[in-house]
Parts: sequence; structure tokens; C-alpha cells
Amino acid sequence: MPEAAPEPVLEVRDLGIHFGGLHAVRDVTASVPAGQITAIIGPNGAGKSTFFNLISGFYQPTSGSIRFLGEDITRLKTHQVVARGIARTFQTTTIYKELSVLDNAMIGHRVRTRAGLLDALLRTGRERQDEQGSRAGAMRALERVGLASQAGRPAGALTQEGQKRVGIAMALASDPRLLLLDEPAAGMNPEETVSLMGLIRELVAGGLTVALVEHKMSLVMGLADRILVLHHGQKIAQGTPAEVSRDPTVIEAYLGGHAHGGQMGQPGQAGGSHA
Ligand SMILES: Nc1ncnc2c1ncn2[C@@H]1O[C@H](COP(=O)(O)OP(=O)(O)OP(=O)(O)O)[C@@H](O)[C@H]1O
Ligand SMILES: [Mg+2]
Repeated sequence: MPEAAPEPVLEVRDLGIHFGGLHAVRDVTASVPAGQITAIIGPNGAGKSTFFNLISGFYQPTSGSIRFLGEDITRLKTHQVVARGIARTFQTTTIYKELSVLDNAMIGHRVRTRAGLLDALLRTGRERQDEQGSRAGAMRALERVGLASQAGRPAGALTQEGQKRVGIAMALASDPRLLLLDEPAAGMNPEETVSLMGLIRELVAGGLTVALVEHKMSLVMGLADRILVLHHGQKIAQGTPAEVSRDPTVIEAYLGGHAHGGQMGQPGQAGGSHA
């Protein structure tokens, strides 16, 4: 028996953005329930990262609204969105490989609590003042991702999965309520993927709400409470993993673009023609 859905932390209504004539996200109405894992899937170019860019304030929507914890955040800038409690990781790694794991987490903390990356890198007076606070916040974030013992190592010396954990620690350093992960398992082997899934489960058990974009169906099906499916920028399905995986529209979306091996199991690997 399905339980009643928890209150949504995030609600988007008729959300859209177009770049010239291209509607990267179009009329998407969806919600992210508190304390759960919501996966956003869809073929390459479906608008998944753009959806995250809209929620996190990197892009301004051309239509629709975004509510977070009951507040309208549609027009807020990135640092204001972070201050409300939404943090994200990026599809491509954005860690500083030469710097220590701790320094990376501290940059995450400063960027998210202060004016911006430049301040964080140049270490202005204000930043120095906050050094102790950043360090403590960064160490807490590293503990949450299991990297406290690696704090002094160069981030680039860690495994792929370790480096992803650094990226997650950078996001956690702002102590978010909602964490957006864009393809967290990209480039990972199966063992690393399983380990990362364990981390995401732990974070959610600790009270965090997670929305993630991922092509690896083992992760999506193993983790997600609910799945939102985007195709050509539009929502074509939303439901439990079981509901979504037997939805004819979803199956067609995955098979349609990928003539061979087009199992819903591996949409990311099937094609590769998307630039
Ligand atoms: N800043 C931008 N300017 C113009 N077009 C953009 C911009 N950002 C995204 N797009 C386009 O919007 C569409 C959706 O892109 P998006 O990156 O959101 O896809 P995605 O679902 O994350 O794909 P992938 O699985 O390959 O990461 C693509 O056609 C992309 O080229
Ligand atoms: Mg993407």
C-alpha cells in the first residue's frame, strides 16, 4: 500500500525556459517530497541539467514559478537560493584537484556563505575573519561524506568516487535542506556506484531531501522514491520507479531515439549522438 506522500519541499509550476526557439524546459509542473529521493531521468538533452539550473537560480525561467518551503524563489539569485537551503553539485567535476580535500570543502563553505568564488579564492579580510567558521563547517561536511580522515590529501589523489564525495561535501557545507545532484555516478565503476548510493541513503536518513539526475538506471531504480521523466524539455511521467518503468510513453521516449540496445536500463550509454 502506498503511503501518503510527504509534504513537498519544492514545487515547480508550469516552469519553462527557452533559448531562442529551443524550449529546453517547457511547462513542467512537479514536486519534490520532503525526506525522499526524487530522480529526474530522460534522454540526453532532455532538459535535466537545465531544470536544476532553473531551480538553483543559475538560469532565470521564462515562464512559471518555483516554491521552496512555501516561499516563492522564482526570481532569486544563486546565492539567495543557497541561503534558503538548496545546494547542488555539477555534472562536470568542479573540485580543485591540487588543493586539499579540506580546502575544497572550505571553498564550498565560503562560496555558499559569502559573496562569491572570487572572495573565497582571494581570501579578503572578511574571508580571513571567517576562516575558523569555514574550517569547522567544512570539517562537518567532510564527516558527513566520510572524508574527514582524508582532509589533508590533495583532492586529485582520491578515487573518482572520492572526488565526487568532495563535490558533495562542498555542497553540504552550506547545510542545505535540499541537495541537487547532477549525475553523481558519472564515470564510476559498479562498486563505486554502490558505495555512493550508500552515502546518498545515509544523507537522506539524516533528514536531507535529495533530487538527482542520473543515467545509471541501477542507481535510479535502487534509490529513487519517485521519478520525474523529462523528454524534449517536457514532463512525460512522474511516479514510483515501478510506475515509470512500465509507462508506455517513457519506454517509447527511450526506445525512440536509440534504435539499438535501447533498453530503458541504459539510456545514457545507448546513443551518444547528442552534442
Ligand atoms: N545556456 C544554454 N544556451 C542554449 N542552449 C542551452 C543552454 N543550456 C542548455 N541548452 C540546451 O537545452 C537542451 C537541454 O540541455 P540539458 O543540458 O538540460 O540536457 P540534459 O537533460 O541535462 O542532457 P544530458 O543527459 O546530456 O546531460 C539542450 O538542447 C541544450 O543544448
Ligand atoms: Mg545534463
